[in-house]
Amino acid sequence: MVLATCTLNARQADGISVIPRPQSVTLLKGTFRASGAAVNCDPSLDAKTQQAIQRFASQLFLASGKPSSFAAAPGIVETAKAGNGRGFVFCRDSSLEPEEYTINIQPKCAIVSASDFNGFLYAIQTMKQLLPPAVYSKDAGSETLTLQCMELRDKPRFRYRGMHLDVARHFFPVEEVKKYLDIMATFKLNRFHFHLTDDQGWRVEIKKYPLLTEVGGYRSGTMIGRDFSSDDGITYGGFYTQEQIKDIISYADHLGITVIPEIDLPGHMLAALSAYPELGCTGGPYEAWHKWGIAEQVLCPGKPKTLPFLRDVLDEIADLFPSEYIHIGGDECPKVEWEKCPDCQALINELGLEDKDGVSAEQFLQNYIMTDMQNFLATKGKKIIGWDEILEGDLAEGATLMYWRGGHPEVANSGYDVIMVPTDYFYFDYYQVKDKEKAPVSIGGYLPLEKVYSFEPLNEVKPENMDHILGVQANLWTEYIPSNEHLEYMLLPRMLALCEDQWCTPENKDYDRFLKDVIEHEFKVFDVLGYSYCKEVIGDPAL
Ligand code: ACM
Ligand code: ZN
Repeated sequence: MVLATCTLNARQADGISVIPRPQSVTLLKGTFRASGAAVNCDPSLDAKTQQAIQRFASQLFLASGKPSSFAAAPGIVETAKAGNGRGFVFCRDSSLEPEEYTINIQPKCAIVSASDFNGFLYAIQTMKQLLPPAVYSKDAGSETLTLQCMELRDKPRFRYRGMHLDVARHFFPVEEVKKYLDIMATFKLNRFHFHLTDDQGWRVEIKKYPLLTEVGGYRSGTMIGRDFSSDDGITYGGFYTQEQIKDIISYADHLGITVIPEIDLPGHMLAALSAYPELGCTGGPYEAWHKWGIAEQVLCPGKPKTLPFLRDVLDEIADLFPSEYIHIGGDECPKVEWEKCPDCQALINELGLEDKDGVSAEQFLQNYIMTDMQNFLATKGKKIIGWDEILEGDLAEGATLMYWRGGHPEVANSGYDVIMVPTDYFYFDYYQVKDKEKAPVSIGGYLPLEKVYSFEPLNEVKPENMDHILGVQANLWTEYIPSNEHLEYMLLPRMLALCEDQWCTPENKDYDRFLKDVIEHEFKVFDVLGYSYCKEVIGDPAL
């Protein structure tokens, strides 16, 4: 029998609604009944993958009310490949790249292939998006679940697909962090950048320095709205114990997400100084900051305890987080105190640092700290990521840059590995609607959905440097975001535009198709899942 087929490109394929848009889809005649379908898998798949497949079977059962049996039995794959399969069959195919997957849906059998855990997860996420939004529900339903027959092939454009969360300015409980990870996983993001420390709060337990969280985890007041002269006088704070961090890491791991912690140093350290004032240039007293901005008080590298303190902190962080990368910040470190501090100046002399080629001795002192931490982390088998300021002066080989400031193409072409996070496209703390009166107070700026979507990661990059672009990320700074609802509202739907920047080749991107999928399908998914999101993207005068 010859089946009528039609190969669709992104513009034409309005028969399916999947974000990020899969690389290629060929729709075939016929449908596959997913309600009550058996879910079978290759018994050689590891336990974590089998659990994920079993969870998919449970979701089908819950949404349809028809039991979907799960089996990992020998011979299942061979039978399916011989054309006699029934139900879903999950097969290992080691010829596929990491994170790549294929789905071949025929009337009696849906064959899903991948070579690794993330590939299988992404196939499941794609199939869930092909089904009615009820498959996301935690409530039992009686939906008829059918899939259009098709051949689908998919893999990501970039291997680093990140989303950041600042839990220092406002603290978010473990359950909300998990919800955030769930949202990321639905759209195939695989790196969670966890900004754990800043001037306004220290949020991760460090056993050797308990005051970091006991003292530095709390501030005695917060400015109100955008009024820098105000203070609510209310104690605010919180932190994650190391056990809670392990729980978050394990939860993320089951969603195919690596958690990359950030300890922002040597600036953005006022909360740490409030706990250990002897690490500052003046000795304090210091307080976790009540205001937003860039504090001038930073760690003093000239004090004997400072570098050992940082190594000790990173030692615990490296042991706690399995990630090969540890983010050590390096942004926005004012040098006014170092210029005046006898201990800093003595260290500058001892190291023989001086102003050179427009770079100050104090900047070279910051390079000295970053390199010391990079070398220390290398002894623990870890690599560093830093904000793009770490490129100023000297930067050791092997560092990865997070390019946030934009307008510095030398960063993208530096020869270091780079993650694209330009403020103008990926700072999700900016307003997403033109009429700011319609939105909760935010830091300012204007970043609508369409602008996020319009980013092309390789635009500034010379051909010889393209392999250094690891991927793309958006940042969610939380100075003006005190609640879970507000957090989700700032994230959604912009994170969906981000995910197509990360996943899709330029030929597979199309804003009209994307917007239609967002409005007609994903908003319903958000409703089922109970996420807050910005609905005003439609009809925004700027679009
Ligand atoms: C940053 O926004 N300070 C990285
Ligand atoms: Zn100093």
